[in-house]
Amino acid sequence: MEVTTERAVLYLDLTPDVDDSLTEVITGLSSDFQVLPSKLFYDKAGSILFDQITKLDEYYPTRTERMLLESIVGEIKEELPDDVILVEYGSGSSEKTHDLLRKIDSISTYIPIDISREHLLKAAERIKMDFPSLTVLPVCADYSARIDLGLEDVASEQFAVFFPGSTIGNFERTDAINFLVRIREMLGRGGHLMIGVDLKKSLDILLPAYNDSLGVTAAFNLNILAHINRRFDSNFILDHFSHEATYNEIDGRIEMYLVADVDMVVDVGDCSFSFRSGDKICTEYSHKYTLKEFEVLADQAGFDVTRAWTDEANLFSFQLLVAR
Ligand code: AVJ
Repeated sequence: MEVTTERAVLYLDLTPDVDDSLTEVITGLSSDFQVLPSKLFYDKAGSILFDQITKLDEYYPTRTERMLLESIVGEIKEELPDDVILVEYGSGSSEKTHDLLRKIDSISTYIPIDISREHLLKAAERIKMDFPSLTVLPVCADYSARIDLGLEDVASEQFAVFFPGSTIGNFERTDAINFLVRIREMLGRGGHLMIGVDLKKSLDILLPAYNDSLGVTAAFNLNILAHINRRFDSNFILDHFSHEATYNEIDGRIEMYLVADVDMVVDVGDCSFSFRSGDKICTEYSHKYTLKEFEVLADQAGFDVTRAWTDEANLFSFQLLVAR
């Protein structure tokens, strides 16, 4: 663990060793069903591309969630205690948090957690400028791992985890439950989880959201290879892969792949992988839920859904869960 002061805000660096990620990449590519960890999307370029995705006409989640949040923030405030410590998982550019902080003045401390250091610190500095009396404690970490913030002496009820954007959808169901259990353990009984959950809907809306006409999602998907090349000295040729995003009805999720366009051999670390044209690497799942399905999942993780708000078109939900 390292506390660093060379930036305008103090921050905690819990980033995993490069080697851990390399092992994950090699394990993922060695399996019959090839996968790459979605968190590797978010290097500097990837974080910028993701921000561009959130502004696309076809990508309904971000704008829908923001509009929904704006209309319910007063109701959220009423459910929270007088002094709130807000922890955000995967805070990125913290844009939605600005809206929350402006309207919920009972938040005294903000702890953004993100794996992309530059992005995290820029966002934290911006928040600190806009809300000078707020305590801002950025943590650079992989939030899919266990994080110990060492805040044991704070009352559980004071804690609120903010996990917007339906990032929970990245996890397969059992992993989602395990992840929620870890949040519940960190929060303690009575702690709050404010979570965005994308809903099941017509494919006419769903598919274009992951196959946008400007090709930003394709660039985002391919950028994972550029990131891996830079970090692990591999030699993926981006032009030899294509973006694919399809909906799996059975598992209720968008699945993103990189499809090999030619036969090739790629070196990663000490390993080399041969691809045949048409081979696919899975880079992301984005699960969609009904309100009922998510309530069951939350229940299995030891959370009660206190409130679940949706937009008028039922595209997206924002939910307030309390740890049992
Ligand atoms: C940030 C994981 C919620 O699943 O919609 C957007 C990521 N991938 N377009 C999502 C994403 C392709 C996004 N999450």
